[in-house]
Order: sequence, then structure tokens, then C-alpha cells
Amino acid sequence: MYSYTQEQLDSMKKVEASRQERLNNLHARMTAEEKDAVLKEFHPDYITSAYEELKIGPNKGEKVLHELAELLQGESRTKDLKINLDAPDYDVDVLVIGGGGAGSSAAITAHANGANVMIVTKLRIGDANTMMAEGGIQAADKPNDSPAIHYLDAFGGGHFAAKPELLEKLVCEAPDAIRWLNDLGVMFDKHPDGTMVTTHGGGTSRKRMHACKDYSGAEIMRTLRDEVLNRNIPVVDFTAAIEIIKDDEGKAAGAVLKNMETGEILVAKAKTVIIATGGAGRLHYQGFPTSNHYGATADGLVLAYRAGAKLLYADTLQYHPTGAAEPTQIFGALVTEKVRSLGAQLVNKNGEAFVYSLETRDVTASTIIRECRGRGNGIKTTDGEGVWLDTPMIDIIGGEGTIESRIPAMMRMFGKYGIDIRKEPILIYPTLHYQNGGIDISANGMSGVENLYVAGEAVGCIHGRNRLMGNSLLDIIVFGRNAGKYASEKVKEGVTVGKLTLAHVDAFETERKNAGIDNGVMSPQILPDYKRKDL
Ligand code: FUM
Repeated sequence: MYSYTQEQLDSMKKVEASRQERLNNLHARMTAEEKDAVLKEFHPDYITSAYEELKIGPNKGEKVLHELAELLQGESRTKDLKINLDAPDYDVDVLVIGGGGAGSSAAITAHANGANVMIVTKLRIGDANTMMAEGGIQAADKPNDSPAIHYLDAFGGGHFAAKPELLEKLVCEAPDAIRWLNDLGVMFDKHPDGTMVTTHGGGTSRKRMHACKDYSGAEIMRTLRDEVLNRNIPVVDFTAAIEIIKDDEGKAAGAVLKNMETGEILVAKAKTVIIATGGAGRLHYQGFPTSNHYGATADGLVLAYRAGAKLLYADTLQYHPTGAAEPTQIFGALVTEKVRSLGAQLVNKNGEAFVYSLETRDVTASTIIRECRGRGNGIKTTDGEGVWLDTPMIDIIGGEGTIESRIPAMMRMFGKYGIDIRKEPILIYPTLHYQNGGIDISANGMSGVENLYVAGEAVGCIHGRNRLMGNSLLDIIVFGRNAGKYASEKVKEGVTVGKLTLAHVDAFETERKNAGIDNGVMSPQILPDYKRKDL
């Protein structure tokens, strides 16, 4: 048994006492006006003091969070290094930067298309947010559903800001993405007749979430990694990309690499480059904990920005409503939305449900923050406060054994600390989960820089200003394959690489100086900054 405080135990009794009443009377859904109001008052994206205007670069004049501004306007790690661009250590057709789901999908596709492809990753292949994804992957492949309905759900959920041609690609290619993964060997949850088990996520009007219990990302990443290795695609691990190299015509033509163990600087020349570096949770924007992998430090955004690529919606982040708030050892860890899909309700300290469980993420997170900070209805935790996620409702609704069979990872995660989620509710609070914004691309995956492609969370315009559950595992596959396809097609059509140069980095440095930026920050960050600030 976990050692809860007396206040927590007293509140838990109220949750138990109100359970039957809450089961009989589900909380009403919010109106559009109510949603707008709670977002404006409580969503972290609306805290203007957390933002500053960029002074240089392609998005000059636009606002981003302070932590990102520091890095985008930071000093190059190549400064003062003597780099011989004329003697590359690697020379490939397609260079993929990042070894997560998007990078692996891109590499597999480019390889299948006949390209000489190489993956470079600052950690190891599979050390990525993909591995940590839990709840599932969306695709409209059931008779009552269609890509058009999927599109409407995602477009509305993203506040009508998604780039239409990208969202169209996402939803239309979703069923094929599932088939591709299934054929590669992903063990999706299936009914005895072989059809896929699907559930709802927040903001979905149809059950289209395909899952591998609550290990969906781990199972998908396992399969993709196997495929990369089976194809003998070279993977250079523990090696970070620290700058994009261009040729003298301004086209992307490789990357400067740094071996993380030896510090050695290497040069990779390539006909096309794909950035698949993932998200930014480890920047801990606005002091939030994160559900993200250790490597999520927005490196791709910095590399692309300095190379001249524009960002889109870099000001908007996703705070997943249910990060673990207690115990402190797992503070911020993801508690999958699937827990709510299966019936768990969000409940305040008085045992009252305060929101319909499957509103979209930004709205749900805002109501939790309102409950705690605005209404004083939160429960004190070791690291702050939180609300209850009433997990025992799942077995009551779905029958005994539902939790064990559908969300075993959650059961294990809390079980380690003596919390049995089948019998007791858990404490949660929003956690930094996803960067909605990122590098602007066209439908062929190319950024504003010729021959520089982007896939996965580093892309900034697929979902708009809020993403629905399960559309990220989907986008890494759809846009990973897309980037791999178009980057390798471009090579086939014929790419001539001119003289390699880092002149754009020098020009950026001059821009920094002229703007009076001397922030002492080197970027990309590569690893999170966890050193004690008091030392
Ligand atoms: O809640 C989750 O399982 C997260 C899924 C996602 O971000 O798509």
C-alpha cells in the first residue's frame, strides 16, 4: 500500500462514495464557448509572459517560449572548430537524422526504394518518444468510419489550423500505414475473428484507435528497429547532428556530426537529408514535468532554423491531461488517455467529476488546471497538486480483468509503488507531452530548404494547434514513409551536390551579433540540462 497523506486518503473516500452516482450520470460535454473560455484562462499556451519575440532567423518577429528562443538564437556548436568539409567521413544518398519511429520509417522506405541510406542518432536506435507512446494509433478502417470523418475530428480538434494538404495525407494514408505495420509484424490487439480492436480517444467521433495493449509505441518501435537492422541499414549511434551542411547552391547536403562518447567531429555528405529528431519535452517549458524521452530537446528545430527553414506554430505545445502526479518517482510520466477511453473519470478532491472524460486534450488539461489553481479543488501531492483519475471504474464498466488485459503497463507502473489501480484511483496533473509546432513542410515532406526533408514530431503543421490522441504514432509512420519516399525519389531523379559549406552558419552568427544576442547558449542542446542550479 502506498503511503498517502491523510488528506489524500480522506479525499479518496469521497471518490469511492460518489462512484455509483457518477457511473449513472456522465458529466455533460462542454459547449464551444465554454471550451474557448477555459482555454484562454487556463491553458499554458495563453500565458503571455512565457513568450518572447524572435530577433533573428526565418521567424523573426514571431513569439516562442523563452526556452526555445534561447536555443533557436543560440551559438553554433561548430564555432571555432576546424572542419574539413572536403573530406567527408560518410557519403550517402539519404541521411536520416534521428532513430525513432519517423526516422526508421523514412530509412526503411528510402532503402526499399533503392537508396543508399544511413541513420545517425545521438542515442541508440529506438531511444525515442515513439518507444514511450502508449495508447494507440488512429486509422479510419472500420465500416462505420472514413478518412473524411477522421479529417473532421482532427481538423476541429486542432482548432482548424492544420495545413489541409498534410492532414488529408495523414488520414487518407492511415489505413495503409496500419496494414504496413501489421505486415511488418506489429502485434495489434485483435478480436478472435482477426479484426482489430479499436477504441475512442479524446475528440474522436468513431472508435479508430488501434493498439498493442498500452505498449503500442514500444511494439511499433520494436518492429521498425528490427526491420532497419534486418535490412542492414547503417546506424551510427551516440552521434549527434550539430549543424546542417549546405552546398554552394544553398541545398541541404549533409550534416556535421559529433560523436557523443569521444567528442570527435565527423562530416556526413548526402544528396538529401531527413530531419526526424522528435520533440522538445525535455526543455520543460514553463517548468512542466514531461512524458517525453530523454533525447527530446528540439534539436531538429534548431538545425533547420539555422539552415533557413521556417517554423510553423512553434508557439503551441501539448500538455497531456494525465501525467502521474504521485508518486514523485514517476512525476510527469504518461498515464495513457486509453485509461479514460476505457471509462475512468477525472474527479476533484470532493469526489466530483468536473469534465466529460474525452474532451480534446487541450480542453481537458485546462479544466484540470482550473480545478486545481482556479477553484481550489486539487489534492496536494509531493510535487504540487493534482486530481483523481478514477481507474477502478474501468473494471466496473468493462468487467473484471479489463485493466489487466488492456492497460497492463499502467498497472505495472503504479504497482511498483504499491498502488493497485484496479482498487484505488490515481493522482494526475498535466504533463508536457508534444510539440504541436515545428518545421513547416510541403506535402512531399520538404522544408523551405531544398533537399531538407522533415518527418515526425519535428514537423509543425500536420495537426494544427492541438493534436488528437493516436495521430502522432500515425504521423511518424505516414510522414516518415513520405519523407523516405520523396527524398529517395529526388536522388533517383538526379541530385548534384556542389561544394559543401557552412556559410549559412557564419551568416547566422553575424545576424546574432548585429541583433546584440549574447545569451551564452550553445545549440542544439542535445541532452537535457539537469545539473543542480544551486552548485
Ligand atoms: O495518451 C496516450 O496514450 C498518448 C497518445 C498520443 O499522444 O497520441
